[in-house]
Amino acid sequence: MCWWRALVAAAVAAAFCVGTGTGTAVNVVSKVEDAANFHIYYGQTFKVIKNVIDAKSYLLIQNNSRMAATRTKYCTQRIRSFVVPFSNFSADTYFFPVECMQLLGLLGLLKGITTNAVASACALKLYGEGQITILNKDAPEDLMQFAAHFVTNTDQQQNYCNLADFLPFYEDHPLQRAEWIKFIGVFANLETRANQVYDRIKENYLCLAGAVANQSRPFKPVVAWLAFYNDIWSFTQDKSKLKYVEDAGGENIDTSINRITYNTSNPDDLEALHAILCQTVDVVIDETATLDPAAYTVSSFLENVGVEDHSCFAFLTNQTLWRYDKRAYNSTLDWYDGAVSQPQLVLADLIQAFSSPGNASTTFLRNIAKGEGVLSIDGSMCGSQDFSTPMDPTILPCP
Ligand SMILES: *[C@@H]1O[C@H](CO)[C@@H](O)[C@H](O)[C@H]1NC(C)=O
Ligand SMILES: *[C@@H]1O[C@H](CO)[C@@H](O)[C@H](O)[C@H]1NC(C)=O
Ligand SMILES: *[C@@H]1O[C@H](CO)[C@@H](O)[C@H](O)[C@H]1NC(C)=O
Ligand SMILES: *[C@@H]1O[C@H](CO)[C@@H](O)[C@H](O)[C@H]1NC(C)=O
Ligand SMILES: *[C@@H]1O[C@H](CO)[C@@H](O)[C@H](O)[C@H]1NC(C)=O
Ligand SMILES: *[C@@H]1O[C@H](CO)[C@@H](O)[C@H](O)[C@H]1NC(C)=O
Ligand SMILES: *[C@@H]1O[C@H](CO)[C@@H](O)[C@H](O)[C@H]1NC(C)=O
Repeated sequence: MCWWRALVAAAVAAAFCVGTGTGTAVNVVSKVEDAANFHIYYGQTFKVIKNVIDAKSYLLIQNNSRMAATRTKYCTQRIRSFVVPFSNFSADTYFFPVECMQLLGLLGLLKGITTNAVASACALKLYGEGQITILNKDAPEDLMQFAAHFVTNTDQQQNYCNLADFLPFYEDHPLQRAEWIKFIGVFANLETRANQVYDRIKENYLCLAGAVANQSRPFKPVVAWLAFYNDIWSFTQDKSKLKYVEDAGGENIDTSINRITYNTSNPDDLEALHAILCQTVDVVIDETATLDPAAYTVSSFLENVGVEDHSCFAFLTNQTLWRYDKRAYNSTLDWYDGAVSQPQLVLADLIQAFSSPGNASTTFLRNIAKGEGVLSIDGSMCGSQDFSTPMDPTILPCP
């Protein structure tokens, strides 16, 4: 018997040993279809999430069950228990797709964030109204106030009992990342909504990808995701970005280069980079991080590349030089938020970037070759909405 089965068995035994009142039976379940890094199991009055990356199990006990009434609680290296549905939560927002919460109608329960550098207009609005407070990342009493505290990396050494590792960024495919909405849904008994949102997003994504795959094109554009840091240009190795390129009908450059980093202070490297950009690349997505996205233009790119003669760069003549910082709050990008929860929008951006760059209307990508600027996110863009009403995903027309 594997260890989570033992846990489930123990929990079932606990539920039945203490008496007859078993609480709400769970009717609707979420089944993980695509994501690789979490699994969900259901009992009568509890659920178990097994998190593959941190090897932890979260035992979620229904609030009206016997187990909850007897205050059954686990807080060990491997098992943490939570009473669900939660009525409040907090999140480590240094990298956090807040939009997942909005798609579930849970933003009103978000009471604490570790930074207000968030690319979500509604979270900024709630923060501005004093409904969300800033928590000190290093103060246990801050992080332990709410029913759950979600974090998106496993680096933290702390082992607070309300800590839940929410890890979409560890998945390789954009759809796998989006499916983590089910992870949050389980904590709120919102399986129905989470399933519905994911199904619609997945259907739309696969339809868009299918339509592209059906087109017979004379050639596929060769695409490079490139970032500059400390004099070095690096081609991406992020699998989800490579998948996006394939799904949007492009070809990844990584198959035609033998190295991923090029030091611009080294003349041989610079020459090699120059040759790659001249001969091979049709589309560039410049991922270079900056504290001031609005100030990053095509001249910033050329300055960083540092070659005098760029007349041979087809992505300049064809105006196919992009960045994914179109939607930003200061230097915080919606690319790490809305783009994670709604990958169909990213796919649609890339399809346009590859097929009709002159005429694209994109959500996350901006065409710096055309001088397209940044859209600055602020709380006023949220409007006057009820935070318990779930936001609908944006479903794009697809043949
Ligand atoms: C359980 O949670 C639901 C939904 O938040 C709430 O209405 C109900 O009062 C809670 N029940 C108990 C016993 O806490
Ligand atoms: C964002 O920029 C505004 C205006 O420059 C500034 O007032 C604010 O403090 C910044 N917020 C964050 C979280 O950096
Ligand atoms: C959060 O919700 C729990 C019940 O789930 C409640 O006991 C607690 O007081 C709430 N915390 C705050 C700070 O509102
Ligand atoms: C792709 O082509 C197949 C076979 O012609 C067709 O059944 C399918 O509906 C097409 N898919 C899309 C999304 O257009
Ligand atoms: C890049 O090349 C320069 C010149 O050769 C060298 O001084 C520098 O250390 C290199 N940078 C890295 C990160 O390797
Ligand atoms: C880019 O422009 C060249 C002519 O400058 C053209 O031959 C080529 O097909 C264009 N590439 C793309 C991807 O549109
Ligand atoms: C731009 O889009 C419009 C409508 O979608 C279309 O009619 C027009 O031909 C497109 N222009 C280019 C240059 O692709």
